[in-house]
Amino acid sequence: SSKVNFQSLTEKKQSARPITALTAYDYATARIVDEAGVDLILVGDSLAMVVMGYDSTLPVTMDEMLHHARAVRRAVKRAIVVADMPYGSYHVSIAEGVANAARFLKEAGAEAVKIEGGATRCELVERLTDAEIPVVCHLGLTPQAVHRMGGYKVQGKTLAAAEELVRDARMLEAAGASAVVLEGMPREVAARITSQLHIPTIGIGAGPDCDGQILVFHDLVNLSFSRPAKFVRQYADASALFRTAIEGYMHDVEARSFPDESESYHLPKEATASFEP
Ligand code: KIV
Ligand code: NA
Repeated sequence: SSKVNFQSLTEKKQSARPITALTAYDYATARIVDEAGVDLILVGDSLAMVVMGYDSTLPVTMDEMLHHARAVRRAVKRAIVVADMPYGSYHVSIAEGVANAARFLKEAGAEAVKIEGGATRCELVERLTDAEIPVVCHLGLTPQAVHRMGGYKVQGKTLAAAEELVRDARMLEAAGASAVVLEGMPREVAARITSQLHIPTIGIGAGPDCDGQILVFHDLVNLSFSRPAKFVRQYADASALFRTAIEGYMHDVEARSFPDESESYHLPKEATASFEP
């Protein structure tokens, strides 16, 4: 099917067809995700944790994000490619945020950037939109705010906090956001935001009423080495699959059954005779 863009995502919302999204961080996985037909691929800063082994998303740099985004870009033909703005890249000034966002489009071929935060990000969303950079916002449990939140905790659980999330979402849409990720919030709050916005909502730990869903690829296939969160559903056990493959390889090397004759190269016949060991 044809190339995805934010217009086609909004059409999906309007016709109540669910949007599928996943993260990807490298060429091989991005190809598989794109060829499977997922609508949106996020080069998430979750790569700090699942690819680089940090215990939060905070340490990953612009250059590291660009490196992964370029690999994903080379793989993806159909899905819309969104790059996560890393912590610190849009928190110092609007001008720096716009300059860093533009790098994802210029240097990595991303089609949009994602930023975390509520109404405080409205001015940045306006300026990015003015600069022709589509923006995906991210509300609720925003992992870059781990220290302010005091851990990875579901947000919007009081009436006041729930109302604030709804207001934030409406303001970000008015500022020009193209879509919004809703993470770690009560189902009821995500449902209210989804029904009030014209742009698509993409949920993770935000219940089934969002316009779409996103998961971290490594969580989906059990490669993340962390106790899965309540909202994760594991669809395959790649850790077990890979371990079995590695053990098979080691066994065959140690048994001298790999490589075998059919997996070996040979001298031409006429040379073999005068090349006896
Ligand atoms: O970095 C990430 O993977 C994300 C998604 C979970 C939305 O921000
Ligand atoms: Na992220």
